[in-house]
Amino acid sequence: MKILLVGGGGREHTLAWKISQSKLCDKLFIAPGNAGTTQFGENVAITVNDFEALAQFCINNSIAMLIVGPEEPLVKGIYNFFKENPSTAHIQVIGPSKQASQLEGSKAFAKAFMDRHNIPTAKYKEFDAASYEEGMQYIRNHPLPIVLKADGLAAGKGVIICNNHIEALAEFQLMIQHSKFGEAGKRVVVEQFLDGIEVSVFVLTDGKNYVVLPEAKDYKKIGVGDKGPNTGGMGAVSPVPFVTAAYMETVTQKIIKPTIDGLQKESLDYKGFVFIGLINVEGEPFVIEYNCRLGDPETEVIIPRIENDLIEVLSATAQQRLNEIDIAISKQTVVAVMAVSGGYPNEHETGKVITGLTDSVLEGTIIFHAGTKQEGDKVLTNGGRVLAVTSFGNNIAEAAEQSNYMLEQIHFDGIYYREDIGYEFR
Ligand code: AMP
Ligand code: GLY
Repeated sequence: MKILLVGGGGREHTLAWKISQSKLCDKLFIAPGNAGTTQFGENVAITVNDFEALAQFCINNSIAMLIVGPEEPLVKGIYNFFKENPSTAHIQVIGPSKQASQLEGSKAFAKAFMDRHNIPTAKYKEFDAASYEEGMQYIRNHPLPIVLKADGLAAGKGVIICNNHIEALAEFQLMIQHSKFGEAGKRVVVEQFLDGIEVSVFVLTDGKNYVVLPEAKDYKKIGVGDKGPNTGGMGAVSPVPFVTAAYMETVTQKIIKPTIDGLQKESLDYKGFVFIGLINVEGEPFVIEYNCRLGDPETEVIIPRIENDLIEVLSATAQQRLNEIDIAISKQTVVAVMAVSGGYPNEHETGKVITGLTDSVLEGTIIFHAGTKQEGDKVLTNGGRVLAVTSFGNNIAEAAEQSNYMLEQIHFDGIYYREDIGYEFR
């Protein structure tokens, strides 16, 4: 079959690498893709939110499956757009419906969903302009630290953890009265702070059945030892050493099953990946967020551990027969280290020439492109996060060292990466 993959980051390069290995894939297109994805398919110059152009491309090219990488088109309703148009309704779309994507698109929706289905999460209350004064009072009486979450999508920046009441009140005011995170951020979830280790769990569901994919831990801070500002993710590891079979069983019973059952009970059409961000508090998992897609750079460590033919699995998803699929997961450890542009996550330059990409790539290492573009015979940086260097190993130390070694051979002006990915497990 012919497949169109939507997105252009490290997640999509990884998916393209895996899809190209499928015996069911005759031709892969990536919109818009990056300099790396052309190794596995043909890039198409259409942006991820241009539904009209994506649909027309699918019709013109007899696309049988659309796989949506990023959250924005999902939250904006790409699934419904395809399903409601008679000329694209037959296309298998991997990604949840607009309504189901609210699990990521609205923190208030996600919290209320968890409440309805008794899924463990931090205590919270939501406020908007109409309940502003009540919110200020609630914050004044709230124990520290206080977590404030903008309701809508905020490109990973909408969560603020405040260590004193003055700061919390000021941030709350900025969000509601000054639209700090735009219109969608004028509704605010005020949440209890949970203290524990985070882990990300990934599930693929057809809305009724589900399979559990490998878990991962990502490293969000820019600096060594988890210091400094948050980023989109500086690296990831999978498996996560403290996640035992017994812990996953608890997560399955308390979180995964009620989530999938909840989707079904509420008739939320969901054929895609669910990314569940958990905090482990004294052995008990609590949900801190749902995402309606795979994570980046988590994809770069979980997809390489899946041994199945991915398109076989995704076809079963689209046809609601995931119960027929057994997922085979490699026991090997995978670590991804992200190389970023100097200055990221703040202002940074792009358009720098990248060298060393093709020289002696070690066996057991794959270089996934995140923000790159091809110009003639040169590969240039094209974003904050530039490359994810993924390595297999027998343990985290071994895989991380191999990625770091590979990164020493790669160069672009201002290159920076964290050498300590997975440090607490080494
Ligand atoms: P989110 O955008 O929901 O993933 O939140 C970003 C980060 O904020 C998470 O990865 C956590 O590190 C942190 N966070 C979110 N909610 C809480 C909470 N209730 N308690 C502690 N940390 C949190
Ligand atoms: N790495 C976090 C995310 O993809 O949301």
